[in-house]
Amino acid sequence: MEHIYPFQTKVSKDQREALMDQQATLIWFTGLSGSGKSTLAVQLEAQLHARGFKTYLLDGDNIRVGLNKDLEFTDEGRVENIRRIGEVSKLMMDAGIIVLSAFISPFKIDRDLVKEIVGPENYFEVFVNAPLEVCEERDVKGLYKKARAGVVKNFTGVDSPYEMPANPNITINTTTMTVDESVAKLEELIVPRLKRV
Ligand code: ADX
Repeated sequence: MEHIYPFQTKVSKDQREALMDQQATLIWFTGLSGSGKSTLAVQLEAQLHARGFKTYLLDGDNIRVGLNKDLEFTDEGRVENIRRIGEVSKLMMDAGIIVLSAFISPFKIDRDLVKEIVGPENYFEVFVNAPLEVCEERDVKGLYKKARAGVVKNFTGVDSPYEMPANPNITINTTTMTVDESVAKLEELIVPRLKRV
């Protein structure tokens, strides 16, 4: 970048994390619409908060009416959506916060970019896995029906692709596990990573 001179602040990320007594981490939920990403992220955040962790939740449906309301569901729009969320997550982590992000994030290359942006050691990927048929059957928002009817275009799983994670930190199958069981499992795996050593 020409004519831009980033500088260091006096307070470091490590000092902020020390003050909050936690390890800033990004918990990244990926999966089809209706797979259960938001449900799990909302519940996990509540439980982490109750344990005293300082958290923030970023969710596609909320971010796309605010910060990213200028973006469409084209491939380009999704790439930019995830790039921005990666950068926002990084800023929040710089502030010492534990960030939970729930976005379809259908492209592997974009998830990998986020991992690079925040540092692989700070990134924990949760693949929320439910088969398309199940998500379509649930159709909580009625969007699959609209996508099949051609009213909603470029819908993930219908006429836009979803690339499954090859190597997530954990896969949660929401057709075989309850929300409570899934969140308990996530908590067990994640909490040790959030504590300062
Ligand atoms: S992403 O693909 O760019 O990561 P994001 O998570 O931000 O998607 O937004 C997904 C949410 O937007 C879905 O849960 C759904 O409610 C809504 N949505 C609207 N149009 C689409 C579409 N064409 N494809 C997928 N989700 C859509």
